[in-house]
Amino acid sequence: MKVLGLVGSARRLGNTEILVKEALAGAQEAGASVAMVRLTDLHILPCDGCMSCVFSRRPCRLGDDVPWLFERMLEADGLVVGAPTYVLGPAGVIKMILDRYLMLGHLVEELGRRGRRGAAISVSGLRGWNPFGASLLNVFLLAMQAPPVGWLEAYAPGPGEVLLEEGLVERAHALGRLVATGPPPDPSALQPEGGARPEQCTPGVGEEGRAATVGRENPRERTRSPLTDEGVFACPFCGSPVLRVGRGEVECPVCSSRALLGAEGVGEFRPPGPLGHRWDPVPAREHIEGWVMGTRDRYLACRDAIRPLRERYRQLEGWWISPPPTGSDST
Ligand SMILES: Cc1cc2nc3c(=O)[nH]c(=O)nc-3n(C[C@H](O)[C@H](O)[C@H](O)COP(=O)(O)O)c2cc1C
Repeated sequence: MKVLGLVGSARRLGNTEILVKEALAGAQEAGASVAMVRLTDLHILPCDGCMSCVFSRRPCRLGDDVPWLFERMLEADGLVVGAPTYVLGPAGVIKMILDRYLMLGHLVEELGRRGRRGAAISVSGLRGWNPFGASLLNVFLLAMQAPPVGWLEAYAPGPGEVLLEEGLVERAHALGRLVATGPPPDPSALQPEGGARPEQCTPGVGEEGRAATVGRENPRERTRSPLTDEGVFACPFCGSPVLRVGRGEVECPVCSSRALLGAEGVGEFRPPGPLGHRWDPVPAREHIEGWVMGTRDRYLACRDAIRPLRERYRQLEGWWISPPPTGSDST
């Protein structure tokens, strides 16, 4: 069992690094071999949308470190991804990597069969200012076919301040163990060593402003209560508190599970169809092969019609501005 930790913060010995290291220590204690990558040290370019990794299955032409990173991630049986929250959600490096996910599109079923597991650690400064942190880190894990066994939300602004939060280190440790061992049949087994209080098993945050959410079951198989400990409504499959409401239903935009919305309130959340939600291997492959792959032929069929319509926008090239070349005087 190999568990790879991904640290999305550039701060040396910052909160994310500390909690990811603690989770890896838990995984190692449970028998896993562990390794870590600091994502901000990698050379990562934005996806340029060429689609050749999908249409031709060619290696990405950008020539940055993402193919190397994906190789390391594919070798791993477990992923622990941690990121600081910058402006309400995970730092941009997480999205830069997630944007390259189509490179792995042809592997989703194979990866899904391996039964990989993941855990997310979302660190932010202030409660109420991290609405997208855990949700987007869970998207990362779902897309990489390492569905979260749990996730942890920590609140600590200064580097290392997480260490002052009672019980937090133990929770990160327990979360890492869970990635290595898989969910135990007995939820009480989640209790951190020497700790009196069992881990929370519903999305949300701990008492007295302390961090934590540790799920205990595979999101493909469970339904939890949609109410967090704070009484916030969240998706019972992936924990996303961001939900879309309308047309008689509530939909989770992260994993696409749904519940009916009637006069009596919200019904039970159900994944759409027997194959699971949008990130499960079969729906994910069908999306890529059935829809994404098909965009090429559909585009080619209407390209001649689009060409003259685009011309008007070619005339507007003079509007671009860009910074002066490095070293030149900008005054
Ligand atoms: C640019 C920037 C934006 C931030 N935005 C938020 C935010 O929207 N919400 C929040 O709660 N904390 C925010 N923070 C605080 C960090 O999430 C917090 O300091 C965290 O502990 C950093 O983790 P690290 O030590 O692993 O880098 C922000 C910090 C920075 C530097």
